Amino acid sequence: MVSQTVSTASNRFALRRLGDGRDSTSFAEDVREGLTARQKSLPPKYFYDALGSQLFEAICHLPEYYLTRAESEILRDNADEIVASAAGRPARLVELGSGSAEKTRYLIDALLNRQPSLHYVPVDISRVSLERSSFELLQIYPRLSITAYAADYFTALKALAETASSGERTIALFLGSNIGNFDPDGSRAFLSELRRMLRPGDALLVGADLKKAGEVLIRAYDDALGVTAAFNLNLLVRMNRELEANFDVAKFSHRATYNQELGRVEIRMVSLEPQTIRLRALDLEVSFREGETIHTENSYKFDVEQLAGMARATGFAPERTWFDSARRFSFNLFAAS
Ligand code: TRP
Repeated sequence: MVSQTVSTASNRFALRRLGDGRDSTSFAEDVREGLTARQKSLPPKYFYDALGSQLFEAICHLPEYYLTRAESEILRDNADEIVASAAGRPARLVELGSGSAEKTRYLIDALLNRQPSLHYVPVDISRVSLERSSFELLQIYPRLSITAYAADYFTALKALAETASSGERTIALFLGSNIGNFDPDGSRAFLSELRRMLRPGDALLVGADLKKAGEVLIRAYDDALGVTAAFNLNLLVRMNRELEANFDVAKFSHRATYNQELGRVEIRMVSLEPQTIRLRALDLEVSFREGETIHTENSYKFDVEQLAGMARATGFAPERTWFDSARRFSFNLFAAS
C-alpha cells in the first residue's frame, strides 16, 4: 500500500527548476555588489538555503512571531468563504513563496470540497522546501497534483504566464506578509507582473501584516530565543561556506528596529568591532567599522486602505478583507479586473 501511494504520488508531481543554472554565480555577484556599496546590504532571497528555510519555519513557531498564528486563524475560520468568494468555478492554486505550505492546507481542503481535483502550483526559492512540502501534501491529498517551480518570483511569474489552461480559473496566493518584504516600487512591480499572469475572473489572495505598536513588531523580529538572530546571521555562515569567506559570526549581531515614518521593520547585521573580511571566491576584502551595518530585509506594515490602493494601481479590484480576532493581520481578496 505504501509503495503504491508513493508511486502514484510521483505521477502527480513535477518540479521545474527555473533560472539560468548559474545560481552560485549570481549569489557571488549579488554579494559583491551588496558588500561594496556605501550602505552594505544583501538580498533577502539568500536567507533560504537548507538551514535558513528550517530556521524560518522555526520562526513561525515562536511566541513572538504572531503573524503565522493570526493568518492560520483567519484561514481556519474562513477558508470556505474565501474560496467561494475567490472562484465561482474550478480553479488551480498558484502560491508564490510557498515555504512549508502548512497554512495552504486550509485552502486546499476548501477547494477539494468544491471540485473533484486540484492542481497546486507552488513557487519557492528553496527546492528542498518544495520537495518536502509537496511530498507531504501528495500523501495527504490523493486528488491533488503538483507542479512546483524552484525559482525567484519574477522568473516564475514569467514562466507561469504561459501555463494557464483555458476554462480553468487561477487563484494566486501570497501569504505570510511576503508582500511586506518589497519596498513600495517593488510591490507595485510584483503585483503588476502577477496581474499579467492572471485573466479577468481570476483572484489574488494576499496576507498582509497590519500597523501596530512598535514594541510588538520589534519582538516579532527579535525574539528571546535568538532564532531570528540565527536566521539573519546564517547569511554570514552561507557566505563562509559558498564564497570561502571568513566571517566570525560572534563579531556581528542581529538588529531589528521599527521605522515608524516608513511603517516598516528594518533588519540588519551590526559589526561589533572594526574588522576586515576576506571572501576568497570573490577575491575581495571588505572592511567594517565598529557599528557598521549590513541591511538584509524590510518588513512593511500596512493599513487596509493602503493595500486597496496598491491593488487598484496594479489592475486589481479590492473585493474583501478578513481579519483575525485580535485584528493583528489581514487577508485580502483582490479580483483581476
Ligand atoms: N515575510 C516575513 C516577514 O516579513 C519574513 C521574515 C520574518 C523575516 N522574520 C524575519 C525576514 C526576520 C528577515 C528577518 O515577516
